[in-house]
Amino acid sequence: MKKQTGNRGRKSPPKTSASTRQKQLEIEAEGIVRLNKYIAHAGICSRREADNLITSGRVKVNGKVVTEMGQKIKTSERVEVDGHVIRPEEHVYILLYKPKDTITTTSDERDRNTVMDLIEDATGKRVYPVGRLDRNTTGLLLFTNDGELANRLMHPSYNVRKIYEVVTTSRLSDEDMARMKAGVDLEDGPAKAYHVSRMETHPNGIKLSVFEGRNHLVRRMIQAVGSEVVTLKRTIYGGLSLKGMRRGRWRFLKDREVNELRTLVKLLDKKSLKK
Ligand code: URA
Repeated sequence: MKKQTGNRGRKSPPKTSASTRQKQLEIEAEGIVRLNKYIAHAGICSRREADNLITSGRVKVNGKVVTEMGQKIKTSERVEVDGHVIRPEEHVYILLYKPKDTITTTSDERDRNTVMDLIEDATGKRVYPVGRLDRNTTGLLLFTNDGELANRLMHPSYNVRKIYEVVTTSRLSDEDMARMKAGVDLEDGPAKAYHVSRMETHPNGIKLSVFEGRNHLVRRMIQAVGSEVVTLKRTIYGGLSLKGMRRGRWRFLKDREVNELRTLVKLLDKKSLKK
C-alpha cells in the first residue's frame, strides 16, 4: 500500500485505505451479510448492541420488523433502525502524533485548537478519537469511524496496553515506583502500573505502562506518590507506536496494523491472519 502521511496546510482529496476498499468489495461481492454486522458497519454501534436493537424490535428490513438474531440479509436490502435508513460505511483508521496545546474533542465552543483540526485533510468521513489525551499530553492518538473496534479498544477488559513517558517535577524514588506497580489509591478506585522504569534521557523521567484509560490517570498516579507531571507523552497504544512520525502529523494505519488491533480485542481470530 502506498504510504500516506498528513501534510498540514496542503488540501488533499478524501483518501481511502486499501483495507477499507478491500472490505467494501468483499461485502459487495459476497452480497449477503449478517444483519448485526451490517448495522455495526453503519457505524451506529457494536455487533452486540445491534443484536439488542434487533431483539427489541427497532430494526426493519424492507419495511418489516425483524427480531430474530443471526438473520442474514442481502446488502441490497433496505435496513432501518428507529425509522432511519442506514448504510454500511467504509472504515477509516488514522494515527496522529498529537502535539501540545490541542484538545481532544470533536468541537470546541471556545474555538481552541482541537485534534480534529490536525486531521481535517485526512478523510471526508466523520471519525472520532479513540479515548482522549489531555491538552498538553503529546503522542499517539487513534481515530476511527469503526465504532465496534473503538468501543473494545477503550474497554478495560480487553487489556490494551498504553506506554507513557513522564517527566516529573521531582525525581521519583524506587519506593514511589514500586508503589505505582503495587497500586495507588485514586478517588475513583485503585490504579496500577504494569511496568515502571526510569528513562535514560532525563533524570526525572519514567516510563510506565497501564492497561486502562481513565481520565488523567497518569497525572493522578504521579500525584498519588507526591509529585507532578511536567511532560507526558504516549508512545505506544496496543501494538502501535510513533516510530518514524513527526509531531502534528498523521498517517493511515496499515492493513496489518488494523488486523493486529482487531485480533487484540478479539474481533479477529489470530489464525485467520495471513502471514
Ligand atoms: N493520563 C493522563 O493523566 N493524561 C493523559 O493525557 C493520558 C493519560
